[in-house]
Amino acid sequence: MTELIEALKSAKKVGVLTGAGVSTLCGIPDFRGPQGLYRQPDAERIFDIDWFDRDPSVYYRGCRELVYGLGDFQPGPVHTALVRLERAGRLAGIATQNIDMLHQKAGSSHVYEVHGSPVVHACRHCGDVKTFDEIVAMIEANGGAAKLGEPYVPRCACGGPYKPAITFFGEMLPEAAFRSAQELAISSDVFLVLGTSLTVHPAAGLPRLTLQAGGKVFIVNGQPTSLDDYAVRRYPDLKEFADAVCAAFATSPLS
Ligand code: APR
Repeated sequence: MTELIEALKSAKKVGVLTGAGVSTLCGIPDFRGPQGLYRQPDAERIFDIDWFDRDPSVYYRGCRELVYGLGDFQPGPVHTALVRLERAGRLAGIATQNIDMLHQKAGSSHVYEVHGSPVVHACRHCGDVKTFDEIVAMIEANGGAAKLGEPYVPRCACGGPYKPAITFFGEMLPEAAFRSAQELAISSDVFLVLGTSLTVHPAAGLPRLTLQAGGKVFIVNGQPTSLDDYAVRRYPDLKEFADAVCAAFATSPLS
């Protein structure tokens, strides 16, 4: 990883795009990897807005662990390495496709969640807003999101289901977050792509903005991506990346 580490040391500005692969090291499954969530039948319905409006239990059953069990997950080696990079003054920001809020939990400061997050939920009928913790409490008070048989769906007093502020397929991306992510990609002379299959646009187009602006892209991902031929290089293993960064930028105190 010497070439990547040297680029991080000499860069004027470093940006990062992360995907679900960085959280597999925390025990959270990704979507399209060998053990990905989308290997299950009908899994693509879980984050589909039309399915949510037709039957919100498809989402609440599918995300019982992935979203409503997030309290049990801790940031992993890649999250920690990115905090160390930031503390060493070598990272300007993180555009993430992940909804697990682990970059913030790890201590990263500039995180742009281009697919939103479950930090708040809104009633689909009247717009009433509840926090993530309030929704978790509702679910736990009703024995979990997917009991055998009738799965529990947290509902507003008006009867509408609460929907997380996660960008579902069929919805627009959060405008401010995506604009910040675009600005980060355009202004970075080194852009890291970590743990994403680069299959979902427009997020997958972010690294191309760096290339178009004359910057360099490095990819760390177990599977090939459509950008491999345009990147300086694709490295296969995220744990190796995290270890190399922590070794190279060890001086920055994590606490
Ligand atoms: N080391 C290297 N690569 C890894 C590791 C690892 N330890 N673990 C997983 N990966 C790679 C997988 O090979 C896979 O290519 O991470 C990638 C994750 O890709 P996806 O599962 O497609 O996740 P992501 O790219 O984040 O999905 C994008 O799709 O479902 C939507 O909105 C959802 O944000 C998500 C978007």
